[in-house]
Amino acid sequence: MKFTLLTCALALSSLTMTAQTHVMDVNTKKLGAPVQPTMYGLFFEDINYAADGGLYGELVKNRSFEFPDRLMGWEAFGTFEVKDDGPFERCPHYVELCYPGHKERRSGLTNSGFFGIGLKQGEDYRFSVWAKAPQGTAKIIVQFIDRATMEENQQFAEAKIDITSSDWKQYEVVMKSPRTIQKAQLRIYLDGNKTVDLEHVSLFPVNTFKNRKNGMRADLAQALADVHPGLLRFPGGCIVEGVDLATRYQWKNTIGPVENRPLNENRWEYTFPYRFFPDYFQSYGLGFFEFFQLAEDIGAEPLPVLNVGMACQFQNWDDDSAHVPYDQLQPYIQDCLDLIEFANGPADSEWGKIRAEMGHPEPFNMKFIGVGNEQWDDLYFKRLEPFVAAIRAKYPNIKIVGTSGPDSEGKMFEKGWAAMKQQKADLVDEHFYRNEDWFLGTPEAKAKYGNCGAARYDSYDRKGPKVFAGEYACHGKNKHKWNHYEASILEAGFMTGMERNADVVYMTAYAPLFAHVEGWQWRPDLIWFDNTRMFRSVSYYVQQMYATNKGTNVLSLTMDKQPVAGLEGQDGLHASAVFDKQTGEVIVKVINTSKQTQPVSIQLTGMKGERTATTLTLCHNGMDDENTLDNPEMITPKEGTLKCDAGKNATLLLDDIPAMSFRLYKVKK
Ligand code: AHR
Repeated sequence: MKFTLLTCALALSSLTMTAQTHVMDVNTKKLGAPVQPTMYGLFFEDINYAADGGLYGELVKNRSFEFPDRLMGWEAFGTFEVKDDGPFERCPHYVELCYPGHKERRSGLTNSGFFGIGLKQGEDYRFSVWAKAPQGTAKIIVQFIDRATMEENQQFAEAKIDITSSDWKQYEVVMKSPRTIQKAQLRIYLDGNKTVDLEHVSLFPVNTFKNRKNGMRADLAQALADVHPGLLRFPGGCIVEGVDLATRYQWKNTIGPVENRPLNENRWEYTFPYRFFPDYFQSYGLGFFEFFQLAEDIGAEPLPVLNVGMACQFQNWDDDSAHVPYDQLQPYIQDCLDLIEFANGPADSEWGKIRAEMGHPEPFNMKFIGVGNEQWDDLYFKRLEPFVAAIRAKYPNIKIVGTSGPDSEGKMFEKGWAAMKQQKADLVDEHFYRNEDWFLGTPEAKAKYGNCGAARYDSYDRKGPKVFAGEYACHGKNKHKWNHYEASILEAGFMTGMERNADVVYMTAYAPLFAHVEGWQWRPDLIWFDNTRMFRSVSYYVQQMYATNKGTNVLSLTMDKQPVAGLEGQDGLHASAVFDKQTGEVIVKVINTSKQTQPVSIQLTGMKGERTATTLTLCHNGMDDENTLDNPEMITPKEGTLKCDAGKNATLLLDDIPAMSFRLYKVKK
């Protein structure tokens, strides 16, 4: 009988007879290693239109006319000219609209947003524009339009703005959308015969996360907050490096007034030729100040990653000339030192002052800095050295995160770890996008890869740097790397190994956070969205189950008197346990990665008497299924309770864990 044909309940009743009961013992008397508050985090990179067109609330694409094709995203009509002597030095372009010669004609601009402009019925949108009227006054009309409509009127909302000065000024109007629409457009046209100059044309929902101007899309940011992440790593990923140094991420370009943040290309525009997005750029509206603020808003420690003087090694294999010469690294090192001052320095320090002027006089209290993303070999190790020396000398309390490169094992990985130990990095950022066998740690995967599966961290050196599993996800074989239920359950099983080894694994973060359904380059991702909707993937729920139940200390747990690691003979069962000093709860996580129900007897040694455990279960039968925009809550964790018996020396949880499921128990001690 095939599991996929059964419901969870059926699977449970029909198969419990045959499987052997595994006895788990959780020692609740002795608290083990502390679980770091940073243990379960998030990784943000502007890939898949995660920033512009995604989390960043701006709805206008190419708002400053700075794309290399100045009118990309715009349709200009009538009499117009693109000019380049605008008020913002680093974004000098703007558009001049002139009288087209007859009152019936029109001059204007239409913006098509990011895959359209998404608007929601009843919601307010703030339109703003920098404008001047060379003749002293001018008028513009702003409209929301639907070009695909069969109704008479294309426009469904309209506002008029009087431009009252020949000097550049910002004008603003709030417009309500009477309908929900995925692909609206924004149209602006000249009203009357007087010339107008328009720059930095912007449209934001008024309702952004925390109601901030220049804020985040509320639903997407809320999904981040709901994970209760301990860490936010940003801004990438390969985007930190750029394919060449000229296009690397430079944090100093991303702060200060948004109007003057220079545009950069987005390397994900062309990284995969089979998924090419010629209109993908970085406006840096979501810049380092906003990242720090977001981290603070969602209660996560910020982990900025800075360029180590290297362009992406994937694009520049062993070409040392693509990187900064060793004796010219100082500006890059200075960027790191200045960033620490920007985040933590007093409001009257050079960089702290800019933070204060942006609205945050208090320090962000940044504790970690990543230097280099996925770098490897001596090219990296040699460059990293002076960064470490300079940061240690000026900021001895800042923890430095180095990297072991893009592989999860092998010669370069080993070399990376050895170098990080030698340079005394505080943490090493490991990345692993691997298949199902790797996550399960099957004998085949072990033969091929070496150290994999939930037992991976059991053998790590306890004296060296700590682990930051900074990017990982199960890339399903023959599954086109899609998010699907099976992969998420295997990730959950693997994560028990991180949790059990919390004395060496200090931080973790899943693969990229966001993906626009029409604009993705990389998957799986935690959260998918279109212009008005979103869904949380099953992997999101796995991350959330861990992050909101991480406890404060590891508890030792054995299965049938053996260490648990989903090993052979353990029938695909994975488990870990923690104690939470704040709530007084013992929390046990059990993942059954096998295709049959597994009866378990979990004895909570050190506790006595009957109890009621609250449970949270992620269980689904379609291994290839995933939540979708149309069915966003098809697969979600379900709450329940379980009566616990009073055993002889322990409280007992007797349960059947459905095939391919994740169940979490919480019992008050
Ligand atoms: O997350 C996508 C990419 O995967 C990141 O940019 C990089 O760090 C990794 O290779």
